[in-house]
Parts: sequence; C-alpha cells; structure tokens
Amino acid sequence: MTVTKDGPYKVEGRVPLIEQAIGVNAAGESINWQQTGDFESKPTMMLCRCGQSSNAPFCDGSHAEEGFDGTEVADRAPYEKQAKRMEGPRYTLLDQEDLCAIARFCDTHKTVWEEVEKTDDPEHAAIFLDQISNCVSGRLVAIDNETGEPVHAQRGQRISVTQDPAEECSGPLYVEGGLRVVSADGEDYELRNRMALCRCGQSGNKPFCDGSHMKGGWSDGTR
Ligand code: FES
Repeated sequence: MTVTKDGPYKVEGRVPLIEQAIGVNAAGESINWQQTGDFESKPTMMLCRCGQSSNAPFCDGSHAEEGFDGTEVADRAPYEKQAKRMEGPRYTLLDQEDLCAIARFCDTHKTVWEEVEKTDDPEHAAIFLDQISNCVSGRLVAIDNETGEPVHAQRGQRISVTQDPAEECSGPLYVEGGLRVVSADGEDYELRNRMALCRCGQSGNKPFCDGSHMKGGWSDGTR
C-alpha cells in the first residue's frame, strides 16, 4: 500500500476490502466492529485520501481539482519509543496518543487505563485485551509481562472502510494484519498490526487519522 503524493492510496496485491461500522450498546458505548459491506478486491485499487471523491472509497480524481495537500507529517520514530508505558499486574499498556482515531473502545467498561491496573483478575484482563484489540489505530498495545512480547490477535491482511453511525460520520481506513505502508517519499512505515489511515483529508497527522473526521461529521457520501 503506497501513499501517493497529494493523491490517493495505491493498494496492490488484491488485498480484501470491506466496510465495517462501530457497533454500540444501549448506552452508546463502542462494543464491536460490524461488517456492513464488501467490495470486489482488484489487483490494484486507488483509495481516496482527500475526502472529496464522489465514488468513495475509490479515488475519482477530486484531489487534483481540489488542490489537496496530503503532506505526510507523522513522526516516524518506532512506536515503542513514542508510546507511554503503564504497567499493570499481568499486562503493560503502551499508549501513543497521537495515533488516536477516536473509536472509543478504550472508554467502554472502565477505561483501558483503569482496567490495566486490574489485569491480575481474568475477567478484567479479558476486557482489557478486548478494548485493545478493537482499537482501530493501534494507539494501544498490550505487552504480556511474563514474555515481554506484544499480545496481538491473529489478523489477516485486509482494509476496512469504516463508518461511525453513533457519531453520524464516516471514519478512516482500518488497515490490519501488518500490511506494508510506503510513504510517498519511498520510505516504509513501521509494520503494525492495526493502523488507521486518514481518508477525510483533514488529519493533522497524515497519513494517519487523528480523529478530525468527527469535526463537522465528515461523510464519505455513501450513507
Ligand atoms: S479519517 Fe480520521 S482524520 Fe481523516
């Protein structure tokens, strides 16, 4: 997957492309991801990054007409160097706030920052790992204190176009499975098993989402 200069994401290799929406409980808290669509996967796909396409999630050339500035500004230091650490009894929480896409799974139940303190209790440990596994952006990572290794759910490579019905907006591209992302300058981004890539064009942390799609309720026009 390549970030093109001031243009779309170029995806090669027939990567599965689906749509997922944030599911919520009666209290409006994020509880799961629900598949709401499926796209035909093609050998090469151009996915909109400027937020203006009339054929979302695909590029229709609007970036050129709109003079889209897609400059990538995200810090490229390794995730673990940038993340804050919070040690719990069973797991350690790593948190790189700049990556937050505001999907809010960390606030369901007690917050993830409270749950990490209780991870010696299996019930709370399961909630904690679930909160992290659903974190679209990879902002949050759990480290197993016994092994020192990250706890990652097994994920195949795929891209999800996301929707956030509770907030009445569309969301980022949810990139899973350690898909390789290459900058417009040719440099690889660090491989991570969950990433949220901006597709509204408004992020201040491009190419990653920073939650700006929620301002004014950005919609990709498909809902
Ligand atoms: S899609 Fe989230 S900031 Fe653009």
